[in-house]
Amino acid sequence: MSRLIIVSNRVASPSQQGVRAGGLAVAMHEALDRYGGVWFGWSGETKDDATWNPRVVEAGNVTYVTVDLKTEDYQDYYINYANGTLWPLFHNQLGLIKFSRAGFDGYLRVNAKMAEALAPMIRPDDVIWVHDYHLIPFGDELRKHGINNQIGFFLHTPFPPRQLFEALPRHTVLLHSFAAYDLIGFQTDESLHAFQESVIELAHGRCYGDGAFILGDRHGHAAVFPIGIDTERFAKYARRTARSRHTTRLKESLSGRALIIGVDRLDYSKGIPNRFDAIHALLTDHPEHRNQVSFLQIAPHSRSDVTEYKVLRKELEAAVGAINGKFAEYDWTPLRYVNRAFSRLVLAGFYRAARIGLVTPLRDGMNLVAKEYVAAQDPDDPGVLVLSRFAGAANELKAALLVNPYDADDIANAIHRGLRMSLDERQMRWKHMMDVVSANTVTTWREAFLASLYETQFEKVAAVG
Ligand code: G6P
Repeated sequence: MSRLIIVSNRVASPSQQGVRAGGLAVAMHEALDRYGGVWFGWSGETKDDATWNPRVVEAGNVTYVTVDLKTEDYQDYYINYANGTLWPLFHNQLGLIKFSRAGFDGYLRVNAKMAEALAPMIRPDDVIWVHDYHLIPFGDELRKHGINNQIGFFLHTPFPPRQLFEALPRHTVLLHSFAAYDLIGFQTDESLHAFQESVIELAHGRCYGDGAFILGDRHGHAAVFPIGIDTERFAKYARRTARSRHTTRLKESLSGRALIIGVDRLDYSKGIPNRFDAIHALLTDHPEHRNQVSFLQIAPHSRSDVTEYKVLRKELEAAVGAINGKFAEYDWTPLRYVNRAFSRLVLAGFYRAARIGLVTPLRDGMNLVAKEYVAAQDPDDPGVLVLSRFAGAANELKAALLVNPYDADDIANAIHRGLRMSLDERQMRWKHMMDVVSANTVTTWREAFLASLYETQFEKVAAVG
């Protein structure tokens, strides 16, 4: 049986595999456990004297291999290019994109160095699965070391419309590096089509109905694999924590008021300021909800070294002050804003306690919070999901109240509607969504991707044979 090699910018260490780990980390860990293999990536450490010598930790069936980054590489690759250029571009935030030659060179340099560090460990029948926008050229760099193995790539973020992608300096270099992969996975049809349009229009490639594409002298496949969660496990967490200390404290603090919850990394793509505007609109246009609802926004700090994230942090702090200053009573604070992170076990209990789950990103690859909110609900008294139509999850969770995340009034009206929704309608909508998240889990996602990747292997062997 061939080994699986997972490559991602961040590697969840064996100690993070408990309830603190995100869904993706858990899924990857399970896949590795089953097939045996290696998880390779950045250690998360930045050191002035970092070398590219990998650190190897064995844990059961899995080998964790990590490298540290030099401060300059962290700055160019992670801060400037991955998160200063690609992240805003892939989330349609053209005004926030910064491009520098140093960033782009650093991105290519780190991808090349990381590939150089991994290449000697690869065995001929290993299957390699690379993740996310940080590592687009990684496959191409591996090929330069004579690695002919099957290599798959999955983009967790959206792929931008061709007209936006075209604005990226040197975009054809990135496009051509995609062609080093045997299989490229996207979250949605929209991203797949945008990629195909870029291949055709910007790189004069060809795309076929079955997902095959030709770019220069290479060919590969591209397809849609919407990521899911471990639905059963998350539902179990929620049942288990329904009466936990944290959930009880939260419920007691509400004094019978309805809870509206938002949980996001503090990121401009998540639309948090617009969501706060919606709370303002709700309390202004529907004054009957004053003193009757509490909005809890959990937003752990993220990428704090990137300027735009610092600006956002200040903006949100001011917005929270303004809303609470305007509407709070001596015994009620409408908006609770918490920057600390909670384990997924605790969050599961919070989601179950919330009457409304507010997930309103301006753009999102999938958004697993939306799926977790659904999985956490009590079937006898489920809450209502208010979901951005620009999250990948909106393609599947059609029974949510879908909103335009730029339109505060639209969000406010959906919250109002959710707060007044009958039990029958809540149950009907929830059941529809729960059927979807139960059918398409993180396991089915992983298996579907790997099965397709193995299939491309047989095609390659057949073609050679
Ligand atoms: C998104 C990206 C992931 C990334 C995560 C956290 O979900 O798709 O690749 O790991 O954000 O961001 P960070 O920069 O802290 O890794």
